[in-house]
Amino acid sequence: MKFVLASQNKHKLVEMQSILAAHGVEVVLEADVGLNVDVEETGETFAENAMLKARAVMEASGLPAIADDSGVCVDALNGAPGVYSARYGGPELDDAARYRLLLENMRGARTRTAHFTSCIACVFPNGDTLEAEGVCPGTIAFAPQGDGGFGYDPVFFLPELRKTYAQLTPEEKAAVSHRGKALAVFEVKLREYLKGNG
Ligand code: IMP
Repeated sequence: MKFVLASQNKHKLVEMQSILAAHGVEVVLEADVGLNVDVEETGETFAENAMLKARAVMEASGLPAIADDSGVCVDALNGAPGVYSARYGGPELDDAARYRLLLENMRGARTRTAHFTSCIACVFPNGDTLEAEGVCPGTIAFAPQGDGGFGYDPVFFLPELRKTYAQLTPEEKAAVSHRGKALAVFEVKLREYLKGNG
């Protein structure tokens, strides 16, 4: 079965492919099927935005579509950047500038707890949908560490592992991450769904 990932983010693709391949599911980017669907993320929750993206790409491609909407919610910032994680500080910032802005906004904050959330939505051409969510608690580091991953990985610290996401191998990250957890839930739901519809 082939899913079109409603994203241009190759890092998300790699993380999703490596987990879903074991279940005979192939994930391709929109570009691989000649699409570049611009979806306005107008939802107020990760789940709403994931569903908006998956539905738009299913409608444009006629293929099953999967989307991940994710972000980091920082307690000292009342949950920011949250659903605005990709747009934090404005469109001209890159990943490094965004996490530097986050560190700047956290200067002096004594509570550094945060969590990453990933909501996965999948829409089939017949209109059926599947949803899954994963959450990973952690803290915001005082300085970036590590050069793996993407986005806020260098500043998202896992106290139990004493490492940031960016210091983990892809396998280690998948085992604990918000996206890894969401995909684990998704896999179970997909298997059940395919049993009934396969
Ligand atoms: P989305 O594409 O609208 O879901 O944006 C999610 C944003 O959250 C990304 O641009 C990253 O900045 C951030 N993000 C999501 N997942 C991760 C992750 O696994 N590591 C680091 N940053 C992430």
